[in-house]
Amino acid sequence: NKKELLTIIVFGCSGDLAKKKIYPALFKLFCNKLFPKYLLIIGFARTSQSFESFFDNIIQEKEILSNSIFSEEEQEQENNKMNDTEECSHCIDVINRILYLSLPPHVFVNTLSNYKKNCFNTNGFEKIILEKPFGKDQDSFQILSKQILEHYNEESIYRIDHYLGKDMVSGLMKLKFSNMFLLSLMNRHFIKCIKVTLKETKGVYGRGQYFDPYGIIRDVMQNHMLQLLTLITMDYPTGLNDEAIQNEKIKILRCIPAIKLKDTIVDHYDESQRNHSYHDDPHIDKNSITPTFCTCILYINSINWYGVPIIFKTGKGLNRNICEIRIQFHNIMGSSDDNMYNNEFVIVLQPIELIYLKMLIKKPGSSEMEEKNLNLTLNEKNKNVNVAEAYETLLLECFKGCKKNFISKEELYESWRIFTPLLNELQEKQIKPLKYPFGSSGPTEVHSMKENVHRFINQYIYIC
Ligand code: BG6
Repeated sequence: NKKELLTIIVFGCSGDLAKKKIYPALFKLFCNKLFPKYLLIIGFARTSQSFESFFDNIIQEKEILSNSIFSEEEQEQENNKMNDTEECSHCIDVINRILYLSLPPHVFVNTLSNYKKNCFNTNGFEKIILEKPFGKDQDSFQILSKQILEHYNEESIYRIDHYLGKDMVSGLMKLKFSNMFLLSLMNRHFIKCIKVTLKETKGVYGRGQYFDPYGIIRDVMQNHMLQLLTLITMDYPTGLNDEAIQNEKIKILRCIPAIKLKDTIVDHYDESQRNHSYHDDPHIDKNSITPTFCTCILYINSINWYGVPIIFKTGKGLNRNICEIRIQFHNIMGSSDDNMYNNEFVIVLQPIELIYLKMLIKKPGSSEMEEKNLNLTLNEKNKNVNVAEAYETLLLECFKGCKKNFISKEELYESWRIFTPLLNELQEKQIKPLKYPFGSSGPTEVHSMKENVHRFINQYIYIC
């Protein structure tokens, strides 16, 4: 009957992420009584603030996270306060801590080393939550990872990809492995191609300081979209424990060769009458060539997926908000590439949750065939069910020590391997993105890429 206290320390507590995602998640977990009875939330920020102004600030969402780090002296003082507060909750036997580093990655190491020197807690667990970007490429990731692991071991590190906390995403693996017909069809013998799309209407105005050095490929492709692909294409894990699932994901990532520049199109949005052009953000250099749109083709060289093109498409400032996975079956006998008669299995994650199978059926009273969707609209059916937000799920899983929805260093190593040569080439050759109007459906060059894919598929079918 030990009394346990959970202390959650938010570094960067006045930042955007903390305001928009971390506090709402903590609040919901607290209200739903999912955290221990004894709970303490402590925030560190660069600038000192009164309690009242801090609250004003998090409600108004004004402050942008800055780059500075906490000095040792400040951290020591804070630690004394923290210890006093923790001990005030007398009769506590165990003090567990979660450190949420809602900070830019170049201050991770200093923050952790100062914290460890001055505030290390030996009376319970200590877990570290880190937010992307985890480096800028394979080398910088490895350096960062090595430095972090000098202070904390891999077991206590929880790297967040918030897509893995989304309810629908957590169901992807189950969807495939619990439906026999799907499991037997999910391979190159039946599937012509897979399309993963993440389109957003908003631009990056106001986020230029973060976005410009990274670009769309690092922002969502190397992480969220690759995670979706991994979950949909991985094999059945040897068990349902965290390690078995992560191993299976790593196996599929290892089969993906580095993406080639010739299979990629990059663009960024330009002014339209109503909206900002990419270069309007005060933190973005007028000559910046950072892409806000990218489409590329990946391949998985595994027995199951060899020769199946995977098309990633993502962009900011487009005409719609959507995140979906389209698994397209081979052409129906006698139909050509260009006509619409293909079976398709579609999983829509956003803006609504939807799963459907596109099928052909004979029109009643006619000999013609028509396309119909076998439809599961998930939100409609579960209107009154309380579905946890991604950050709620992930914070709770971290507290419980469940790591299956966090990213291991091996996964990151592989995901950077897939994208680093492309990122380097874009940088070295100073490839200038083409332009598309803000709010449009994206660049028109994408059509020539479609032709490439079709050529590839036809060639492949011929060889087989
Ligand atoms: C974040 C990216 O990781 O994911 C953002 O930094 C992007 O640029 C966001 O908009 C998309 O997440 P969601 O949950 O809104 O689809």
